[in-house]
Amino acid sequence: MIYCEKPIYCWAMVIIETAKELIEYLKIYRNKELGFVPTMGALHNGHLSLIDASLQANEITVCSIFVNPTQFNDTSDFDKYPRNFDKDIALLAERGCDVLFLPTLESMYQRESLLSFSFGALECVMEGAHRAGHFNGVALIVSKLFNIIKPSRVYFGQKDLQQCAIIQSLIKDLSYDIEFNMCPIIREGNGLAMSSRNQRLSESEKEEAKALFASLELTKTNLLSGKSIKEAVDLSKEYLKNNISFELEYLEVANAETLQEIDSIEQGQEYAICIAGFLGRVRLIDNIVFVG
Ligand code: PAF
Repeated sequence: MIYCEKPIYCWAMVIIETAKELIEYLKIYRNKELGFVPTMGALHNGHLSLIDASLQANEITVCSIFVNPTQFNDTSDFDKYPRNFDKDIALLAERGCDVLFLPTLESMYQRESLLSFSFGALECVMEGAHRAGHFNGVALIVSKLFNIIKPSRVYFGQKDLQQCAIIQSLIKDLSYDIEFNMCPIIREGNGLAMSSRNQRLSESEKEEAKALFASLELTKTNLLSGKSIKEAVDLSKEYLKNNISFELEYLEVANAETLQEIDSIEQGQEYAICIAGFLGRVRLIDNIVFVG
């Protein structure tokens, strides 16, 4: 969809389509605190909570919407990723976002990039292990966006917990002068974590999907009551089998910082329980973080 070649004004929000124009436009805000919320669109209340957090702490908030092809290991997932640009623009403008960066593919990728990122053990588990090349694509696009926008603060959702760890690692290792903020998961009334992908679920699947959060809570309760990790995970797998037709990819208990699997729970340590798999053809992820 073509919007405009020049920045256009939608309520008080500026929409910019190319990196060159955005860099030029942001020069007027050079000495201001700038908050940045990167997204792939199909916005929901989870994204809007990131915008709110940025609006509260910064003088100007930039949101980007770009369905980034290099982070999809499955082309049909990329093709089917929901795109609702008109609705997204209205939501952002209404919320008070100052600038929307809606780049074209050509503006972000002039050529196939030769860069590759390695995040060591962090990318060898969970999403990294199941989606080959995913974090390379994420790190590439996020670095490009950071270089173009030069934010003071960035806002990412906890739902993509491993992505948060990867971006924090990227910020440290590339010496970006950026404050990283991870914002809590926003859930539907039944516990389902909000996600753009939920738009592809039927109403009955959305109801069924509440079992994912319930399985995470069950794992936590069983761990805190002294069950071993194997026992707690097995009980939750059984619960999933009985409550949802979910093709489970992983249900893991990990150290909340390194995301490496652990053998036992120690008091006072922070842990993450993470789940991923397919409900029908839609891939869903969720997690909870708790103290042992
Ligand atoms: O979390 C997402 O929506 C994407 O991975 C991100 C950070 C916008 C990069 O494309």
